[in-house]
Amino acid sequence: MVLLGVNVDHVATLRQARGGREPDPLMGAALAVLGGADGITVHLREDRRHINDRDLRLMRQLVSVELNLEMAPVKEMVKIALETKPDMATLVPEKRRELTTEGGLDAKGDFKKISDAVRRLKDGGIQVSLFIDPVGVAVEWAAKTGADMVELHTGYYSNARPSARHKELEKVKSSMALAGSAGLMVNAGHGLDYANVAGIAHLPGLRGLYIGHSIVGRAVLVGMKEAVAGMKALINLAAADKK
Ligand code: PXP
Repeated sequence: MVLLGVNVDHVATLRQARGGREPDPLMGAALAVLGGADGITVHLREDRRHINDRDLRLMRQLVSVELNLEMAPVKEMVKIALETKPDMATLVPEKRRELTTEGGLDAKGDFKKISDAVRRLKDGGIQVSLFIDPVGVAVEWAAKTGADMVELHTGYYSNARPSARHKELEKVKSSMALAGSAGLMVNAGHGLDYANVAGIAHLPGLRGLYIGHSIVGRAVLVGMKEAVAGMKALINLAAADKK
């Protein structure tokens, strides 16, 4: 079985477009769980551009499946994680101007910062995953940090032209094997959608997939008919009442 962690950040992105209360990512999380999600992921960014501190606090109370906090390996976020106690934390690099997480962690270059964060989180009873590129050196240094698991970046595979896709898939596959033999549990995510997920989901040794944008995007579309019908019914009811 491969677990599915659903990232609901973009429900909050839609809320922030108007700065109001709706749509609430908590509702998104609850419905994702009803749909069969094995976990819920939220990324609390330094600039709070989508998920905010209130969302995370209430998510912790609401979510009974695995709650995964994506976070930069910085003091502020480690403190928040230790207070909120998600089931797991996925450490990611974070740049203010990026649209989404761009590359994996530099587990070698930032070894001290990352391994300090890993130790503090694990001491607090939180499982730790590192988001890394599917390359040998990243896997080897990730294993040295003491992390429990890695999430291999599938963005290169997802964005590859059809002619290059096989090569990118092979990189994910060999990194998966290397991570497994280093004693790490192995997840994957980023850029996965309804057309490309099967190529990754069938790889041996995979623990879970973390997917956000394509699911939230699909939810907007498959929900459109029902949402419009609901509004139309209200309008028709009020208009009939007027006569
Ligand atoms: N995993 C990580 C570490 C991410 O940063 C993201 C994006 O927030 C995802 C998975 C989900 O990626 P996507 O939204 O492209 O499915």
